Amino acid sequence: MIRLQNVTLRYQQGPDILRDINLDIPQGAFRFLTGPSGAGKTSLLKLIFLAHRPSRGQVFLMGQDTAQQSRKSRALMRRHIGVVFQDFRLIDHLTVYDNITLPLRIAGEKQNRWHDNAVELINWVGLGDRLDALPTTLSGGEQQRAAIARAVITRPRIIIADEPTGNVDPEIGARLLRLLVELNKMGTTIVIATHDRQLWEGFDFPRLHLDKGQIGLVKEAMV
Ligand SMILES: Nc1ncnc2c1ncn2[C@@H]1O[C@H](COP(=O)(O)OP(=O)(O)O)[C@@H](O)[C@H]1O
Ligand SMILES: [Mg+2]
Repeated sequence: MIRLQNVTLRYQQGPDILRDINLDIPQGAFRFLTGPSGAGKTSLLKLIFLAHRPSRGQVFLMGQDTAQQSRKSRALMRRHIGVVFQDFRLIDHLTVYDNITLPLRIAGEKQNRWHDNAVELINWVGLGDRLDALPTTLSGGEQQRAAIARAVITRPRIIIADEPTGNVDPEIGARLLRLLVELNKMGTTIVIATHDRQLWEGFDFPRLHLDKGQIGLVKEAMV
């Protein structure tokens, strides 16, 4: 689903942030991406959701070499990737309902075709009674759930989450994880970057550990 081949990334004339990385994440996999702050986790995720291009090497998504694609097909490819940012990036002047369904509008889908499913998803993440609320009136946990609902509303094949629990309490973080596990059971490939040990402990998913620009696979028994 996601394959990086000899990928090196540096910003401008700076040092190599990621160095000769080889990575293969199969369809339906669940991976944590860990490493200290500044290790390059966010940079690696940006390569995967095509916000950056590697300085060297290739990024394959769904079997396609993304460097060979036109701008348009890269944009289409991106629609298969749902992203949850650390700061959620909800739009302040749009209601919860409008924020969450924005990707469907952008994709040009007709509201009468998705409205019922959207309401079902919003209920599922526990925001059914906040449909008309503005993001600034939501708690951190509610904002997080809105961001996740927005990331999954188009039923993407890949979900990328960057420190998704950075701003919320541990209990809400655990709840988010359960939500992502459910989506993974339905076949979605999931990559979660975090430096929060609490988040990956207790899950039996493989952990990709970034350090000094290189990646190692850590297999841990269930805690
Ligand atoms: N746009 C950028 N331009 C220059 N340097 C950057 C940029 N983004 C990140 N970096 C640098 O790359 C390194 C890795 O950053 P990042 O990917 O954000 O790590 P992490 O998410 O693991 O904390 C850091 O040294 C950071 O300062
Ligand atoms: Mg980061």
